[in-house]
Amino acid sequence: MLNFDIHLPTRIHFGRGKLEELGKEILPWGKKVLLVYGGGSIKRNGLYDQLLQIFQNNGIAHVELAGVDPNPRISSVRKGVELCRKHAVELVLAAGGGSTIDCAKIIAAGAGYEDDAWDFFTRKARISHALPVGTVLTLAATGSEMNPYAVISNEETGQKLGTGSPVLFPRFSILDPEFSFSVPAEQTAAGTVDIMSHVFEQYFSPTTGSYIQDRLAEAMLKTCIHYGPVALSQADNYEARANLMWTGSLALNGLLGSGKHTDWATHDIEHAISARYDVTHGLGLAILTPYWMQYVLNEQTVPRLAEYARNVWAIEESDDTKAAWSGIARTADFFKSLNLAASLKEIGIEENSLAVIAEQATGGRTLGAFKKLNTQDVLKILQAAYNGDTL
Ligand code: NZQ
Ligand code: ZN
Repeated sequence: MLNFDIHLPTRIHFGRGKLEELGKEILPWGKKVLLVYGGGSIKRNGLYDQLLQIFQNNGIAHVELAGVDPNPRISSVRKGVELCRKHAVELVLAAGGGSTIDCAKIIAAGAGYEDDAWDFFTRKARISHALPVGTVLTLAATGSEMNPYAVISNEETGQKLGTGSPVLFPRFSILDPEFSFSVPAEQTAAGTVDIMSHVFEQYFSPTTGSYIQDRLAEAMLKTCIHYGPVALSQADNYEARANLMWTGSLALNGLLGSGKHTDWATHDIEHAISARYDVTHGLGLAILTPYWMQYVLNEQTVPRLAEYARNVWAIEESDDTKAAWSGIARTADFFKSLNLAASLKEIGIEENSLAVIAEQATGGRTLGAFKKLNTQDVLKILQAAYNGDTL
């Protein structure tokens, strides 16, 4: 295990009825809030009306940025920054999934930055201060509600890039699983895969001796495998939604990756795909992951892939290579059982764009840590994932 420092400052209010904590979480920061939300799911599931009631009860004034897209755009960030400046906003409140939360974080950082917020992604500027951000989470997936990262797309340049800063940790997040009952099946499945992928990116690591992180990781994977299908077939199953929601937060709040080199190659490749084709993040990951696993399987990596197969999928096979292949096949079958597409072709990616996607994903660097990948390696993974070759 490597040395590490960790500080997790986000206060979590978890469970039924926890929205009642919102007023007292906002008031220490001020009485002017920018409410950020997406395409209207919070209006349909009743959250919006409850938020307005809480604002009214606590004398909180608010302005709104509605219509944040999945794969949030820098243009939405710019609109939010304008609103913060114009109305002297004191706290940015995101109500929604990862897209809404990520957009809110960069609005909060951009409000006090004199130039354009895209500079945070091109590394022209570092995020050193931000308005406080709070969240009401409605979709179990990204972990953005408890981490300092944000991913934003730029529709003009065709890029989708991530950034992070300790000042972007939400000050508080309200996680009431009941607000995720209305998440549609495809987003429930994609969110479950995204959580699993965050675990994979940290579990498949060249670092040895991180026994505790690895057992925690396996528990999180098993939770997704157990409860993902339950949430799909019973949208209002509280136990399933609650377990998925808390696993989503734990999977990417620093707990699993501390003390280890982490990978993130699959995420880098997926971000290059969703920048270009606007696909759902978790769906892209579901297609890529089994091909990434196959591609990285070699003499060095086989013990960990075999351990994954045995500990997560209970595969009883003494030969490491055979066990690893069974684990990969089980992973692919599980994603298919969630009714997710299994090839890039099926979701409308064009074969002639694979080379550009590979170049954009690597940007001339090597990706990953479990096995380092150059642009050519990434292209091979994309080609296999395009064709959906049977495992
Ligand atoms: O826009 P609305 O109407 O709210 O609908 C959303 C959206 O259409 C809907 N939805 C959310 N909660 C709902 C609901 N529909 C009904 N009932 C509810 N309770 O679901 C759709 C997808 O929402 P989105 O926020 O895009 O999903 P997700 O949470 O998966 O976020 C994906 C974004 O986060 C980034 C991804 O790249 C992508 O841009 N990520 C952010 C990370 C982070 N900040 O740490 C890490 C991740 O790896 C990821 O890259
Ligand atoms: Zn992700």
